[in-house]
Amino acid sequence: MIIRSWLFVPGDSERKLAKGRDNPADALILDLEDSVSDDRQEIARGMVCDYLKAHPDRSRQQLWVRVNPLDTELSLPDLAAVMPGAPDGIVLPKVYSADDVNTMANYLSALEAREGLTPGSTRIHCVATETAASLLTFHTYLDGITDRLVAMTWGGEDLAAALGATDNRNPATGDYDDVYLMAKSLCLSTARAIEVQPVGVVYVDFRDLDGLQTECLRDRRAGFIGKIAIHPAQAEVINSAFTPAAEEVAHAQRVIDVFEQNPGLGTVGLDGKMLDMPHLKQARNVLAMAAQIKAQA
Ligand code: COA
Ligand code: MG
Repeated sequence: MIIRSWLFVPGDSERKLAKGRDNPADALILDLEDSVSDDRQEIARGMVCDYLKAHPDRSRQQLWVRVNPLDTELSLPDLAAVMPGAPDGIVLPKVYSADDVNTMANYLSALEAREGLTPGSTRIHCVATETAASLLTFHTYLDGITDRLVAMTWGGEDLAAALGATDNRNPATGDYDDVYLMAKSLCLSTARAIEVQPVGVVYVDFRDLDGLQTECLRDRRAGFIGKIAIHPAQAEVINSAFTPAAEEVAHAQRVIDVFEQNPGLGTVGLDGKMLDMPHLKQARNVLAMAAQIKAQA
């Protein structure tokens, strides 16, 4: 399943949990971290586990859980509390390096055994850029990473706090400052290098759906697949931006056709433009993505 939209739902909010299930988001991320206050942690764990158990059919919408980071005392109790509900995966925040992801994988192996779940069935999506150290350790993902890791996103808000910044934007343009663009680029290139899904960062201005759409299309052009959402209205915009449009699919088909009509040629012309192997690969990616999304609709 290609997960285009990942909607965060605070794990202690009955109203929002109820709303999440009817939302078109491909996955919900039931949150036990920053959207839950410490005095509600225990309640949230119970509510998230009950919610997972109440929704065992995940064919239309997967259910993931964001636990607290591994350097807190909350993360293991979070995990132990939710694994009886067999979440599709765990979102791991504030990692320092690939070691954290591999440690999480070991915990999951133990808890899957305890719960009688299929070994390896619980996946991991890490938030790869929320600590200062994380920007300097991306190479560790190339040294052996658990198969459970299937997606990677980045974050600019916690990173700003970690870097001692008072703002993460360039006031003149409103764009992210350099270090956040570096974080974004490292996330994208590392995710592609280890063949996991690079997921676009949350768009915090949740009332601005046009701005969200523009950013989704920009993310997609860069190579990201899907985006994190924080508000129910964002999921539909994200889904459509990450679904190849009919014209795009038709163009990709023409690219494939022109290569098939010219066997043995590595370079061909179409509409006055040169096409070579990267364009063919890109066209095949578009068709594969369109077919997969159609199959899961
Ligand atoms: N998931 C499910 N339902 C949500 C939701 C979410 N993330 N965010 C809002 N809703 C619901 C609201 O409860 C409301 O429904 P109701 O009228 O039946 O109660 C409806 O959608 C409209 O919400 P709205 O009034 O537009 O927003 P809000 O002011 O209530 O909430 C936020 C704004 C940002 C607080 C809220 O969207 C939110 O909690 N987002 C998730 C935050 C989070 O998890 N952050 C951590 C990751 S960065
Ligand atoms: Mg908290």
